Amino acid sequence: MATEYRHRKVYVMRKSYAQSNLEIADYVEQTFVPEDTVLISARERAKAEGLPEIQVCSMDALHLEMLVRISGAKKLVEVGTLAGYSGIALMRGAGSGGKLVTLEKDPQCVTVARENFKAAGLSECVEVIEGDALSSLDRIAPDGPFDLVFIDADKGNYANYFDWATKNLKKGGMIIGDNCFAFGTIHQKKFDHPNSKKVAEQLDAFNVAVARHPDFRATMLPTGEGMLVGMKVD
Ligand SMILES: C[S@@+](CC[C@H](N)C(=O)[O-])C[C@H]1O[C@@H](n2cnc3c(N)ncnc32)[C@H](O)[C@@H]1O
Repeated sequence: MATEYRHRKVYVMRKSYAQSNLEIADYVEQTFVPEDTVLISARERAKAEGLPEIQVCSMDALHLEMLVRISGAKKLVEVGTLAGYSGIALMRGAGSGGKLVTLEKDPQCVTVARENFKAAGLSECVEVIEGDALSSLDRIAPDGPFDLVFIDADKGNYANYFDWATKNLKKGGMIIGDNCFAFGTIHQKKFDHPNSKKVAEQLDAFNVAVARHPDFRATMLPTGEGMLVGMKVD
């Protein structure tokens, strides 16, 4: 019990791979070495510019890359760019012929992300669109259908982003949502803060919407943050 408590205490302070055992997380990170110099520079540039350190953790970046590789997705949409860290990982998965449209409302993030994509050699195949994601999604819909949508932005709109994905993903297309454990509160009935309750309810609504949608098969990968992965099927 004491050990579990220690792990849980550490977990809330550190974004990481494993839910409960940080020794296993360390082993995996040392074995698979998910970050190279490009990703490290992208993360450090964002930090130097004062952006919040809320990008996906390095192992989740590798998960994203692998999910894109496995699915063969080439036309990607990301909701929530920040500084382009996850976008670089997505594009590594897409490889040559891949295109990413990534949506970000914060102008400073947009500037830093464009610098990071340039430094990663990805300027030509990544479009960063500044503005509210829902409006941007409406504008890019005619360019679809898309192969993959990754959602990592305002939790209150996850269900709306999924609704857009149901109409604009090709059959066989993939949806990925990050933070679907609601920062460890998704199962809770009681909350200390009304905002935590709201976020948990919003993410639960998203999880349930994907899990029960007749056109999707989906699962929850047990990453530290909870990564929902779904596919549009017949
Ligand atoms: C968790 S960060 C994204 C992290 C990024 N995917 C990564 O792992 O490198 C969420 C981002 O979504 C952006 N965002 C939040 N609400 C948004 C909205 N309605 N439209 C566009 N961007 C939004 C925030 O400004 C923030 O940069």
